[in-house]
Amino acid sequence: MNPTAITLDTTAVAQPGPWRGKSAVVSGGARGQGAALVRLLLQAGAEVHVLDTLDPAAAAWLDLRGAAEAAGSRLVCRNDDVADPAAWERLAADLRAGGLPLAGLVNNAGLTGPRHTVTATVLEDWDRVMAVNLRGSMLAIRALAPLMVRGAAIVNISSTVGLTGYHSAAYSCSKWALRGLTRSAAMELAPRGVRVNCVCPGVVDTAMIHDNPALLAALQNLIPMQAMATPEQVAGVVFFLLGPGAAYVSGADIAVDGGVTGAGLYWPVAQATGALAPDPRPFSFNDKETTS
Ligand SMILES: NC(=O)c1ccc[n+]([C@@H]2O[C@H](COP(=O)([O-])OP(=O)(O)OC[C@H]3O[C@@H](n4cnc5c(N)ncnc54)[C@H](O)[C@@H]3O)[C@@H](O)[C@H]2O)c1
Repeated sequence: MNPTAITLDTTAVAQPGPWRGKSAVVSGGARGQGAALVRLLLQAGAEVHVLDTLDPAAAAWLDLRGAAEAAGSRLVCRNDDVADPAAWERLAADLRAGGLPLAGLVNNAGLTGPRHTVTATVLEDWDRVMAVNLRGSMLAIRALAPLMVRGAAIVNISSTVGLTGYHSAAYSCSKWALRGLTRSAAMELAPRGVRVNCVCPGVVDTAMIHDNPALLAALQNLIPMQAMATPEQVAGVVFFLLGPGAAYVSGADIAVDGGVTGAGLYWPVAQATGALAPDPRPFSFNDKETTS
């Protein structure tokens, strides 16, 4: 499988301008999917605040600073832990004191932790996964929603394992709970003109998924589109949900998974039984990829 088979021209997604004069906060935005989104926001003119525990000396931060400079946008890097309530209170105080109107919040920071089953759960590992993936998102909304302007949007990054059962219990439960947080916050914030949605990525080509080659190989066999997502393909959907094109979308879960949850349940069965043998008829128009 070629992970870059389907590419996304980010300049086509983020035109310069629409985010000028507004700010956005992205947790876990130093690398991976978060960084791809930060780049889109910077290109669109936003002032972006990134909160991430990644080592400040890591090359990823430097790359992001370069992207901000190239876009002529302001990037504020904060080396903080999303599970720490004080980190969010400090950010809220700074935004109150001098930031641009807050129009976007993306709760993207996450970790899998050791992949324990329910019966083998180690409490400390369970608590850490919940603290980062779930409590961190709640803390962010609690601290920042009161600052958000009418028309603003929040996106929580869940996972397809938040739509199904999964052997890594804490991770799966934290991602299911994020969908609940999304719906509760969507109801609460709708009267204030703030939308809240959830994105559920499938297999995405980032550092997170490369720690276990056997798992990665098995996961790839589940994908009808036969490629894992690039970080940019997920970021494009999150960027859309933050913007005016999604002005009437709130409380939704959107899977960005190459068809795994929608079309993939019987994909391995179709493969095993040869039910989807190649069609012998010449569909030559299918050979050309189109972006329109
Ligand atoms: N990669 C996948 O296949 C996949 C699939 C579904 C969902 N997701 C979710 O997508 C999100 C982004 O992950 P990614 O794939 O880009 O992986 P990644 O590991 O490249 O990025 C995660 C980022 O979060 C940061 N982070 C981790 N713990 C933190 C903490 N306590 N406080 C602040 N920052 C912290 C990391 O430093 C990193 O920059 C995560 O929530 C992840 O659970 C990933």
